[in-house]
Amino acid sequence: MNATVSLLRPAPTNPATRPELTEALRAAVADRTNAALEFLRAAVAEFGTHGELTFANSFGAEDMVLTDLILQAKLPIEIFSLDTGRLPAETYTLIGEVEKRYGTKLKIFFPDSAAVESFVRSNGINAFYDSVELRKACCGVRKMEPLRRALAGKKAWITGLRAAQSVTRTGMATREFDDGNGLDKLNPLLDWSEAEVWAYIRMHAVPYNALHDQFYPSIGCAPCTRAIAVGEDVRAGRWWWEDPTTKECGLHVSER
Ligand code: ADX
Ligand code: SF4
Repeated sequence: MNATVSLLRPAPTNPATRPELTEALRAAVADRTNAALEFLRAAVAEFGTHGELTFANSFGAEDMVLTDLILQAKLPIEIFSLDTGRLPAETYTLIGEVEKRYGTKLKIFFPDSAAVESFVRSNGINAFYDSVELRKACCGVRKMEPLRRALAGKKAWITGLRAAQSVTRTGMATREFDDGNGLDKLNPLLDWSEAEVWAYIRMHAVPYNALHDQFYPSIGCAPCTRAIAVGEDVRAGRWWWEDPTTKECGLHVSER
Protein backbone atom coordinates (compact mmCIF):
# COMPACT_ATOMS: atom_id res chain seq x y z
CA MET A 1 0.00 0.00 0.00
CA ASN A 2 1.14 3.53 -0.76
CA ALA A 3 2.49 5.20 2.44
CA THR A 4 0.58 8.42 1.78
CA VAL A 5 -2.70 6.59 1.38
CA SER A 6 -2.22 4.63 4.62
CA LEU A 7 -2.03 7.94 6.53
CA LEU A 8 -5.36 9.15 5.20
CA ARG A 9 -8.34 8.73 7.47
CA PRO A 10 -11.79 8.22 5.96
CA ALA A 11 -13.98 11.32 6.15
CA PRO A 12 -16.29 11.09 9.20
CA THR A 13 -19.87 10.22 8.34
CA ASN A 14 -22.74 11.98 10.07
CA PRO A 15 -24.10 9.40 12.58
CA ALA A 16 -27.52 11.10 12.52
CA THR A 17 -28.11 9.58 9.07
CA ARG A 18 -27.59 6.07 10.47
CA PRO A 19 -29.66 5.65 13.63
CA GLU A 20 -29.55 2.25 15.26
CA LEU A 21 -32.61 0.45 13.93
CA THR A 22 -33.89 -0.88 17.26
CA GLU A 23 -37.21 -2.71 17.49
CA ALA A 24 -38.70 0.34 19.23
CA LEU A 25 -37.55 2.71 16.46
CA ARG A 26 -38.80 0.39 13.71
CA ALA A 27 -42.18 0.12 15.43
CA ALA A 28 -42.40 3.90 15.89
CA VAL A 29 -41.59 4.45 12.20
CA ALA A 30 -44.17 1.85 11.13
CA ASP A 31 -46.83 3.69 13.17
CA ARG A 32 -45.77 7.07 11.81
CA THR A 33 -45.78 5.67 8.26
CA ASN A 34 -49.33 4.35 8.60
CA ALA A 35 -50.48 7.67 10.07
CA ALA A 36 -48.79 9.66 7.27
CA LEU A 37 -50.35 7.46 4.58
CA GLU A 38 -53.77 7.81 6.19
CA PHE A 39 -53.25 11.58 6.34
CA LEU A 40 -52.25 11.74 2.66
CA ARG A 41 -55.14 9.54 1.55
CA ALA A 42 -57.60 11.71 3.49
CA ALA A 43 -56.09 14.79 1.80
CA VAL A 44 -56.56 13.20 -1.63
CA ALA A 45 -60.18 12.39 -0.77
CA GLU A 46 -60.78 15.96 0.39
CA PHE A 47 -58.91 17.98 -2.22
CA GLY A 48 -59.16 15.84 -5.34
CA THR A 49 -57.29 13.44 -7.59
CA HIS A 50 -56.53 15.74 -10.54
CA GLY A 51 -53.54 17.75 -9.36
CA GLU A 52 -55.43 19.92 -6.86
CA LEU A 53 -53.00 18.67 -4.23
CA THR A 54 -49.31 19.29 -4.80
CA PHE A 55 -46.18 18.34 -2.86
CA ALA A 56 -43.27 20.81 -2.67
CA ASN A 57 -40.16 18.67 -2.92
CA SER A 58 -36.74 20.09 -2.01
CA PHE A 59 -35.21 16.57 -2.03
CA GLY A 60 -34.13 16.94 1.60
CA ALA A 61 -34.39 13.86 3.85
CA GLU A 62 -37.97 14.58 4.95
CA ASP A 63 -39.04 15.20 1.37
CA MET A 64 -37.48 11.92 0.28
CA VAL A 65 -39.71 10.14 2.84
CA LEU A 66 -42.76 11.88 1.38
CA THR A 67 -41.61 11.19 -2.18
CA ASP A 68 -41.30 7.50 -1.38
CA LEU A 69 -44.67 7.37 0.41
CA ILE A 70 -46.47 9.13 -2.45
CA LEU A 71 -44.85 7.26 -5.33
CA GLN A 72 -44.82 3.79 -3.75
CA ALA A 73 -48.50 4.09 -2.80
CA LYS A 74 -49.23 5.64 -6.25
CA LEU A 75 -51.16 8.47 -4.65
CA PRO A 76 -52.57 11.01 -7.15
CA ILE A 77 -50.54 13.88 -5.70
CA GLU A 78 -48.52 16.15 -7.98
CA ILE A 79 -44.86 16.60 -7.05
CA PHE A 80 -42.99 19.77 -7.93
CA SER A 81 -39.61 21.25 -7.11
CA LEU A 82 -38.15 24.75 -7.32
CA ASP A 83 -34.77 24.82 -9.03
CA THR A 84 -33.25 28.14 -7.99
CA GLY A 85 -30.30 27.73 -10.36
CA ARG A 86 -27.94 27.71 -7.34
CA LEU A 87 -28.58 24.19 -5.99
CA PRO A 88 -25.63 21.98 -4.98
CA ALA A 89 -24.42 19.45 -7.57
CA GLU A 90 -25.40 16.67 -5.13
CA THR A 91 -29.06 17.75 -5.32
CA TYR A 92 -29.08 17.45 -9.13
CA THR A 93 -27.48 14.01 -8.82
CA LEU A 94 -30.26 12.98 -6.43
CA ILE A 95 -32.99 14.35 -8.71
CA GLY A 96 -31.61 12.15 -11.49
CA GLU A 97 -31.55 9.13 -9.15
CA VAL A 98 -35.14 9.76 -8.11
CA GLU A 99 -36.26 9.96 -11.73
CA LYS A 100 -34.58 6.62 -12.46
CA ARG A 101 -35.64 4.84 -9.29
CA TYR A 102 -39.33 5.78 -9.53
CA GLY A 103 -39.51 5.89 -13.33
CA THR A 104 -40.88 9.42 -13.45
CA LYS A 105 -39.88 12.89 -14.65
CA LEU A 106 -40.34 15.60 -12.07
CA LYS A 107 -42.16 18.89 -12.48
CA ILE A 108 -39.42 21.45 -11.95
CA PHE A 109 -40.01 25.19 -11.85
CA PHE A 110 -37.24 27.64 -12.74
CA PRO A 111 -36.96 31.34 -11.90
CA ASP A 112 -37.95 33.91 -14.46
CA SER A 113 -34.73 34.45 -16.43
CA ALA A 114 -35.28 38.20 -16.98
CA ALA A 115 -35.87 38.73 -13.25
CA VAL A 116 -32.67 36.85 -12.33
CA GLU A 117 -30.66 38.77 -14.94
CA SER A 118 -31.94 42.09 -13.67
CA PHE A 119 -31.30 41.18 -10.01
CA VAL A 120 -27.75 40.01 -10.70
CA ARG A 121 -26.91 43.00 -12.90
CA SER A 122 -28.11 45.42 -10.21
CA ASN A 123 -26.76 43.64 -7.15
CA GLY A 124 -24.01 41.21 -8.15
CA ILE A 125 -23.78 37.44 -8.51
CA ASN A 126 -23.49 36.76 -4.74
CA ALA A 127 -25.54 39.70 -3.44
CA PHE A 128 -27.23 37.51 -0.79
CA TYR A 129 -24.17 37.86 1.46
CA ASP A 130 -24.41 41.67 1.48
CA SER A 131 -27.62 42.16 3.51
CA VAL A 132 -30.70 40.33 4.79
CA GLU A 133 -32.77 42.45 2.40
CA LEU A 134 -30.76 41.37 -0.65
CA ARG A 135 -30.80 37.76 0.55
CA LYS A 136 -34.59 37.88 0.83
CA ALA A 137 -34.82 39.58 -2.55
CA CYS A 138 -32.76 36.76 -4.10
CA CYS A 139 -35.05 34.17 -2.46
CA GLY A 140 -37.97 36.22 -3.78
CA VAL A 141 -36.78 36.00 -7.38
CA ARG A 142 -35.41 32.45 -7.27
CA LYS A 143 -37.99 30.75 -5.00
CA MET A 144 -41.05 32.83 -4.15
CA GLU A 145 -42.09 33.83 -7.65
CA PRO A 146 -41.70 30.26 -8.99
CA LEU A 147 -43.59 28.99 -5.91
CA ARG A 148 -46.51 31.27 -6.76
CA ARG A 149 -46.63 29.72 -10.23
CA ALA A 150 -46.35 26.20 -8.79
CA LEU A 151 -49.27 26.83 -6.42
CA ALA A 152 -51.53 28.64 -8.89
CA GLY A 153 -54.90 26.90 -9.12
CA LYS A 154 -54.04 24.39 -6.37
CA LYS A 155 -56.24 23.69 -3.37
CA ALA A 156 -53.55 22.55 -0.94
CA TRP A 157 -49.81 22.01 -0.80
CA ILE A 158 -47.82 19.47 1.13
CA THR A 159 -44.45 20.17 2.72
CA GLY A 160 -41.82 18.19 4.61
CA LEU A 161 -41.61 20.68 7.49
CA ARG A 162 -40.85 19.30 10.96
CA ALA A 163 -41.50 21.23 14.16
CA ALA A 164 -38.12 20.27 15.63
CA GLN A 165 -36.20 21.85 12.73
CA SER A 166 -36.26 25.42 13.89
CA VAL A 167 -37.38 27.99 16.45
CA THR A 168 -39.52 29.41 13.66
CA ARG A 169 -41.31 26.07 13.17
CA THR A 170 -42.49 25.19 16.65
CA GLY A 171 -46.20 25.71 17.19
CA MET A 172 -47.12 24.82 13.61
CA ALA A 173 -50.03 22.47 12.88
CA THR A 174 -50.16 19.50 10.50
CA ARG A 175 -52.85 21.45 8.68
CA GLU A 176 -53.05 25.20 8.50
CA PHE A 177 -54.31 27.87 6.14
CA ASP A 178 -51.46 29.53 4.26
CA ASP A 179 -52.68 33.13 4.13
CA GLY A 180 -49.76 34.31 2.02
CA ASN A 181 -50.49 31.87 -0.78
CA GLY A 182 -54.25 31.51 -0.20
CA LEU A 183 -54.53 27.73 0.12
CA ASP A 184 -54.29 24.97 2.70
CA LYS A 185 -50.86 23.76 3.73
CA LEU A 186 -50.32 20.23 4.98
CA ASN A 187 -47.28 19.11 6.98
CA PRO A 188 -47.66 15.33 7.41
CA LEU A 189 -44.21 14.80 8.98
CA LEU A 190 -44.53 17.66 11.45
CA ASP A 191 -44.07 15.46 14.54
CA TRP A 192 -41.47 13.05 13.13
CA SER A 193 -38.06 13.09 14.77
CA GLU A 194 -34.85 13.26 12.76
CA ALA A 195 -34.10 9.65 13.80
CA GLU A 196 -37.50 8.50 12.50
CA VAL A 197 -36.90 10.20 9.16
CA TRP A 198 -33.53 8.46 8.78
CA ALA A 199 -34.88 5.13 10.01
CA TYR A 200 -37.54 5.30 7.26
CA ILE A 201 -34.87 6.09 4.66
CA ARG A 202 -32.72 3.13 5.79
CA MET A 203 -35.63 0.68 6.20
CA HIS A 204 -36.88 1.41 2.65
CA ALA A 205 -33.47 2.06 1.02
CA VAL A 206 -34.68 5.46 -0.17
CA PRO A 207 -32.14 7.52 -2.17
CA TYR A 208 -30.95 10.66 -0.40
CA ASN A 209 -28.69 13.67 -0.85
CA ALA A 210 -25.02 12.69 -0.33
CA LEU A 211 -24.47 15.97 1.52
CA HIS A 212 -26.50 14.66 4.48
CA ASP A 213 -23.66 12.23 5.25
CA GLN A 214 -21.28 15.19 5.31
CA PHE A 215 -23.11 16.93 8.17
CA TYR A 216 -25.60 18.91 6.08
CA PRO A 217 -28.93 18.09 7.80
CA SER A 218 -30.75 20.92 5.98
CA ILE A 219 -29.92 21.65 2.34
CA GLY A 220 -30.92 24.62 0.24
CA CYS A 221 -28.91 26.58 -2.30
CA ALA A 222 -25.16 25.83 -2.40
CA PRO A 223 -23.89 29.31 -1.49
CA CYS A 224 -26.36 29.60 1.41
CA THR A 225 -25.82 26.16 3.00
CA ARG A 226 -22.87 24.84 4.98
CA ALA A 227 -22.18 21.77 7.11
CA ILE A 228 -22.94 22.00 10.83
CA ALA A 229 -20.64 21.25 13.78
CA VAL A 230 -21.49 18.61 16.39
CA GLY A 231 -24.16 19.99 18.74
CA GLU A 232 -25.28 22.75 16.37
CA ASP A 233 -28.95 23.23 15.51
CA VAL A 234 -30.03 21.30 12.38
CA ARG A 235 -30.66 24.54 10.49
CA ALA A 236 -27.50 26.26 11.70
CA GLY A 237 -25.94 25.71 8.27
CA ARG A 238 -28.66 27.63 6.40
CA TRP A 239 -27.89 31.37 5.91
CA TRP A 240 -25.41 30.82 8.74
CA TRP A 241 -24.29 34.45 8.74
CA GLU A 242 -27.80 35.61 9.75
CA ASP A 243 -29.68 35.72 13.05
CA PRO A 244 -31.76 32.49 13.60
CA THR A 245 -35.03 34.46 13.64
CA THR A 246 -34.53 35.75 10.06
CA LYS A 247 -33.58 32.35 8.64
CA GLU A 248 -36.59 31.60 6.46
CA CYS A 249 -36.61 32.20 2.74
CA GLY A 250 -40.27 33.16 2.60
CA LEU A 251 -41.65 29.82 1.43
CA HIS A 252 -43.05 29.40 4.94
CA VAL A 253 -43.80 33.00 5.88
CA SER A 254 -46.69 32.29 8.27
CA GLU A 255 -44.22 30.71 10.71
CA ARG A 256 -42.63 34.06 11.47
S1 ADX B 1 -36.58 26.69 3.46
O1 ADX B 1 -37.75 27.57 3.52
O2 ADX B 1 -35.65 26.84 4.58
O3 ADX B 1 -35.91 26.69 2.16
P1 ADX B 1 -36.52 23.90 4.00
O4 ADX B 1 -35.34 23.68 3.15
O5 ADX B 1 -36.38 23.77 5.47
O6 ADX B 1 -37.23 25.28 3.64
O7 ADX B 1 -37.68 22.96 3.50
C1 ADX B 1 -38.94 22.95 4.12
C2 ADX B 1 -39.97 22.51 3.10
O8 ADX B 1 -40.16 23.55 2.14
C3 ADX B 1 -39.56 21.29 2.33
O9 ADX B 1 -39.89 20.11 3.00
C4 ADX B 1 -40.36 21.48 1.05
O10 ADX B 1 -41.69 21.05 1.22
C5 ADX B 1 -40.34 22.99 0.85
N1 ADX B 1 -39.21 23.41 0.00
C6 ADX B 1 -38.06 23.98 0.39
N2 ADX B 1 -37.25 24.22 -0.66
C7 ADX B 1 -37.92 23.76 -1.75
C8 ADX B 1 -37.64 23.68 -3.14
N3 ADX B 1 -36.49 24.14 -3.66
N4 ADX B 1 -38.56 23.14 -3.97
C9 ADX B 1 -39.74 22.68 -3.49
N5 ADX B 1 -40.06 22.73 -2.17
C10 ADX B 1 -39.18 23.25 -1.33
FE1 SF4 C 1 -30.67 33.11 -3.37
FE2 SF4 C 1 -29.45 31.93 -1.29
FE3 SF4 C 1 -32.14 32.28 -1.33
FE4 SF4 C 1 -30.93 30.50 -2.93
S1 SF4 C 1 -31.07 30.46 -0.66
S2 SF4 C 1 -32.55 31.86 -3.51
S3 SF4 C 1 -29.03 31.59 -3.50
S4 SF4 C 1 -30.52 33.86 -1.25
